[in-house]
Amino acid sequence: MIHQQGMLRDDALKGKVYIVTGGATGLGKSITKYLLELGACVMICSRKEENLSATHAEFQPQHGDRIAYQVCDVRDFLNIEKVIQVTHERWGSIHGLLNGAAGNFISPTERLSHKAFDVIIDIVLKGTVYFTQAIGAYWIKQGTGGAVLNIVTTYASTGSGFVVPSAVSKAGIVALTRSLAVEWAKYGIRMNAIAPGPFPTEGAWTRLFPEGTEKYVDPIKRIPLQRFGHHQELANLAAYLLSDYSAYVNGDVITIDGGEWLKGAGEFSHLDEIPPAMWDELEKKVRGKKSNS
Ligand code: HXC
Ligand code: NAP
Repeated sequence: MIHQQGMLRDDALKGKVYIVTGGATGLGKSITKYLLELGACVMICSRKEENLSATHAEFQPQHGDRIAYQVCDVRDFLNIEKVIQVTHERWGSIHGLLNGAAGNFISPTERLSHKAFDVIIDIVLKGTVYFTQAIGAYWIKQGTGGAVLNIVTTYASTGSGFVVPSAVSKAGIVALTRSLAVEWAKYGIRMNAIAPGPFPTEGAWTRLFPEGTEKYVDPIKRIPLQRFGHHQELANLAAYLLSDYSAYVNGDVITIDGGEWLKGAGEFSHLDEIPPAMWDELEKKVRGKKSNS
């Protein structure tokens, strides 16, 4: 399958340096893997050293000292400044930031405490704002510019019940992306976002599709292309948006969801569920309706 293969040419990112938050697991890890395969240096960061050291150990034999990690809670601005400082000291420059760190879980909103809102908004929205602020200040001081890529979701635009703290936070990130794309373009800083539909990861699946929900919800049925996303196709898009090949793409949010959100929005898209054999009968009824009486 071509969409499961890398898209950019060999060494397309040689000499480039990226920071990936949430880079030790899930989608952040898959994007990190591809950036490394394309020749980049990658600093991964998140809260749990055990996640970071395991991913480092997995990639280090093939990519040597082009992979490094730093423990960082994105809710702590000093942690973030440290990551930027360590990355700069190690590789001399930074070309891009992927904001992938997130927290999420499903719950009826009326069951949530204010602290449940806080924890998600602090990680997702404030963490992304803090890291973007810090890297922006660094790039402006260096006079180099760079690319920020934020991972949001399709419900950042549509909203969604049962994940409201996440929806509120991701919507804020879209506003951040579009605002700074304009304000910081003069410094050579590009801002973009990817809005993925469902891509299987342990982190998302255990919190969003816990055992038992499959009796009531089949997420595949919601997707016109009838499959989940493959990590490589997301990594291809992310690598492109973080690279200079996308130099004229600024302020966009690119959806990669197999058509899922549009299907949910289309008034009659659910008519797919009508058995094909029934359409002759339905057509007769509709065509036969010559007047409103
Ligand atoms: C209701 C909950 C809850 C739940 C936690 N809380 N889980 N409330 N239902 N399931 C409440 C707690 O009771 C507490 O409030 C507050 O939230 C903080 O909880 P803690 O457990 O202390 O937080 P913490 O240990 O910091 O853990 C953060 C976390 C956890 C977000 C809750 O899940 C986590 O670490 N997640 C990181 C990875 C992750 O979520 N990955 C999935 C991203 S997927 P009180 O009032 O009791 O003190 C994604 C995909 C979107 O975003 C789109 C898919 C298609
Ligand atoms: P994941 O593996 O759980 O990724 C979340 C990452 O965030 C983890 O690596 C976690 O690492 C890190 N993290 C959480 N809190 C943090 C904090 N306070 N500071 C620093 N790092 C923190 O889940 P995923 O599915 O790959 O999600 C990755 C991104 O894609 C998220 O932004 C998510 O919203 C987005 N997304 C995913 C899907 C999907 O279907 N999978 C769809 C749309 C959007 P630690 O635990 O080590 O801190």
